[in-house]
Amino acid sequence: MCGIIGYIGRRDAIPVLIKGLEHLEYRGYDSAGIACLNSSTSSNFFIAKEKGKLSELKSQLTKNLPHMHVGIGHTRWATHGEPSKLNAHPHLGEKGRIALVHNGIVENYAELKDELKRKGHHFKSKTDTEVAAHLIEYYYHGDLREAIRKAVRRMRGFFAFVVISRDEPNRLFACKRSNPLVIGVSAHEHFVASDISALLPYTKKVIYLEDDELVELQENTVTITQLGNGRRIQKKVSEVNWNVDQAQKGGFKHFMLKEIHEQPRVLAETLKKRIVDHDIEFDTLDSKIERSLANAKKVFIVSCGTAYHAGMVARYMFEEYVRIPTEVHVSSEFRYADPIIDKGDIVVLITQSGETADTLAALREAKQKGALTLAIVNVVGSTIAREADAVIYTHAGPEIGVASTKAYLAQLVTVALFVIKLGLLRKKISRSVLSKLIDAVEKLPYQLSEVLKQEPDIRRAARKFFRKKNFLYLGRGYNFPTALEGALKLKEITYAHAHGYAAGEMKHGPIALIDSEQLVVCLAPHSKTYEKMISNIEEIHARRGIIISIATSKDQTVSRLSRLVFWIPKTLELFSPILTVVPLQLFAYYVAILNSRDVDQPRNLAKSVTVE
Ligand code: G6P
Repeated sequence: MCGIIGYIGRRDAIPVLIKGLEHLEYRGYDSAGIACLNSSTSSNFFIAKEKGKLSELKSQLTKNLPHMHVGIGHTRWATHGEPSKLNAHPHLGEKGRIALVHNGIVENYAELKDELKRKGHHFKSKTDTEVAAHLIEYYYHGDLREAIRKAVRRMRGFFAFVVISRDEPNRLFACKRSNPLVIGVSAHEHFVASDISALLPYTKKVIYLEDDELVELQENTVTITQLGNGRRIQKKVSEVNWNVDQAQKGGFKHFMLKEIHEQPRVLAETLKKRIVDHDIEFDTLDSKIERSLANAKKVFIVSCGTAYHAGMVARYMFEEYVRIPTEVHVSSEFRYADPIIDKGDIVVLITQSGETADTLAALREAKQKGALTLAIVNVVGSTIAREADAVIYTHAGPEIGVASTKAYLAQLVTVALFVIKLGLLRKKISRSVLSKLIDAVEKLPYQLSEVLKQEPDIRRAARKFFRKKNFLYLGRGYNFPTALEGALKLKEITYAHAHGYAAGEMKHGPIALIDSEQLVVCLAPHSKTYEKMISNIEEIHARRGIIISIATSKDQTVSRLSRLVFWIPKTLELFSPILTVVPLQLFAYYVAILNSRDVDQPRNLAKSVTVE
């Protein structure tokens, strides 16, 4: 996590860095800081840092700002050392000749710190990053490139660094191992940042840096070399098709609310792109890969957080429509479990950012074991997208709210379409079933707009229950993951305790919680397990629990048993999670607002978890 940025060019660096950090703040917001230089003279760094959100730093940077042309910036998600001004980046070397920002962890920092202390270095902070700054400065004898190479050779762990030296003010360096860095290319200026959203206000021309590459940026040149052997590398400049408006709030109070409302459009655009002449197309898969995927003996789906819930839904889809045995794992468990993967198995990684450290490690583990890897990713050009054998993009556009909404929906619909494609290739789906599936999926954008019209009712429900501290979410089958996702949304942004459970398991424990105070959210759309779900709702009703249900329109039975119901239009069971989750997103949003929570930047969380 942490967002890092660097700029060199003719503009005023400070506003460029601040604007870039605004776009990176979703990666962490424990503190923020910048260090800048005037490129024409050798002088001391201009440094500003503040604990807390970027707004704290901005309020410090109001008047008499110096004109600088080179700078680095950081927004922090604390790993080593508490959130404080002292621990805020940028960090300097012993003599203040080097300034550095860092995303990642230097795992052997303690031993390097001891070594440097023995050599007379003094440390001000508790961070591993300060050790990196000192180590680079220790090796610095007038050539920053060489110093970085020597220092990085001594470090273990994973990192992305942006480094400047007051003695070479017309050069800016960046390098990475595991954590992402993208270079922004423009006339007479260059940028580097943790992700492209920070570059979009200035350029759409980017170069993705790979692991163990070192870039030197000057006003007019970009030079990339191998960190290890110093060999020059030629890399292609890519054009990104996101635009800067997509990363703005567009009149909504929060990114999360905007992103919830964008979902019908995301669905419509995904369908338009993928459904061609009543068939399904994935532009990034060639027919050979498609055949290999369809011939898989087993599927492993690996992901984290909300993407894990999309993976759980995907498992039901794979088993029902492709008839391939499918396992779903959280990445942090999968990678250490020594999974039994055979050649011919496929490992599907689902990830919004394409940078989640555990999912990336799981991908590498799967590749090493000989599996064919497929990444379902939102961020184009991200590390996981580049390293997987095949990639399908979800094209939800930039998602800024820390709690994932539209990216989840895009994952669900993309996986559904992919499953249909494989089902066809494996001849498990007939043309007539295909027709039914396509008819149903094409209705989803409109149906989702209908669901969103209940927003005022959902806001009213939130007003009734926002003081509650315990919520139980129950679902079965395809909507068991929806129960988990609804509970996750609520706890992420409201900090109330919310527990998702398989409704059939209720009698093995959670039923003990039910009394007239306990609020239970029940996912009860039409499905194979509908009647079983009704029995569960009856059991809660009999114990006077407060029931809020999500059900298929006009369901009188659910209506009779529930305090409140949010409706979804009729759809096929596999698509129902695409509709049922939306009232739960809105409910979490309004409960959070009524509790005065910071919805887009909930405490302790970060959007992109690039540490283990
Ligand atoms: C963090 C985010 C979640 C996200 C998860 C996985 O926890 O806050 O919203 O679902 O990481 O991220 P990924 O980018 O791999 O989907």
